[in-house]
Amino acid sequence: MEHLIHSRVKNIEISGIRKFFNMVADRPNLVSLTIGQPDFPTPEHVKEAGKAAIDNNFTTYTHNAGLAEVRQAACQFVREKYGLDYDEQEVIVTIGASQAIDIAFRTILEEGVEVILPGPVYPGYEPIIRMCGATPVYVDTRHNGFRLSAALIEPYITERTRCIVLPYPSNPTGVTLSEQELLELVRLLKDKPIWILSDEIYSELVYADRHRSIAAWLRNQTIVINGLSKSHSMTGWRIGFLFAPEFLTKHMLKVHQYSVSCASSVSQKAALAALTDGKNDADNMRKQYKARMEYAYERLVSMGLGIEKPTGAFYLFPSIHSFGLSSFDFALDLVDKAGVAVVPGSAFSSYGEGYVRLSYAYSFETLKEGLDRMEKYIQQKR
Ligand SMILES: Cc1ncc(COP(=O)(O)O)c(C=O)c1O
Repeated sequence: MEHLIHSRVKNIEISGIRKFFNMVADRPNLVSLTIGQPDFPTPEHVKEAGKAAIDNNFTTYTHNAGLAEVRQAACQFVREKYGLDYDEQEVIVTIGASQAIDIAFRTILEEGVEVILPGPVYPGYEPIIRMCGATPVYVDTRHNGFRLSAALIEPYITERTRCIVLPYPSNPTGVTLSEQELLELVRLLKDKPIWILSDEIYSELVYADRHRSIAAWLRNQTIVINGLSKSHSMTGWRIGFLFAPEFLTKHMLKVHQYSVSCASSVSQKAALAALTDGKNDADNMRKQYKARMEYAYERLVSMGLGIEKPTGAFYLFPSIHSFGLSSFDFALDLVDKAGVAVVPGSAFSSYGEGYVRLSYAYSFETLKEGLDRMEKYIQQKR
């Protein structure tokens, strides 16, 4: 019967992050710096709101787009933080940012169109683009400090370009875009019949300046993806948001409705607490991430690895070109010889080859131990 499975689904592969993790997960005494989720617990008051929802039997379907009060709170959150102007008809509460990406692509993509992405990039976009029959077009950002700039994108824009994926701060590089860089993109894309899928899931984890959304300038053609997984350490609650003009959300809502009906009612009540009383919950976590980043960055520089200094998220993406191994073989050797797991850069498209991703969403002790082991390994390799 296997020949009766859709060829596009057969042709996609499980994520390289997962593949690598499955291979090494049961190694004893392994220090893992692989995971892309916060190591902090969900804030106590948010957990309480979830518990209260269960106790009050708030356990039924909600409006397909999500509870009105949650949508209003989400609009208020992005208004206060990023100056965005959306109303409750223009937001959908999704099952994590992942489902927001899925329904956005399924609403705007069709056979034969092209989607421009930065390379390297988070592996959650390409499989969905391909399942829609569209073609991913990667733009090499490696010689531009991993920044997807207007100048880099321009030569790739064709009549078939339907969408540009703009994820910032970036997973895996930790790099974000400045207002100046965004304004250049705005000048290039304004009035072009091209959507911008702006994945801003790390918007609360920006270190230097404050986060700016491209939707502040190109509201009519931008789909903003956000959520609480990273900002409020709520990966398991599965709450994401999708902001777009109403002429688009009304279509995305149909895809959402027939796919999942609605996000979990219990999680939505927790989300309400996170967005209101907990709107600044990320501040303390951000401080700690920044301190860890500064420490880990200095350590990697002193090991002689080429690295772009991150300005957001919780990843570092050093180059391992000088070791003459593929990123997969390097990561495997690092597990075998040093007992440290990092993610091979090739998990983030072929443009990630020659790099590895370290996450610093780990305690300082774990981070130090992992870096000590890595340093010893590198000294022996040289
Ligand atoms: C850039 C990016 N977008 C989306 C997601 C998915 O987020 P969620 O867990 O809310 O589905 C992730 C998760 O790692 C991510 O790194």
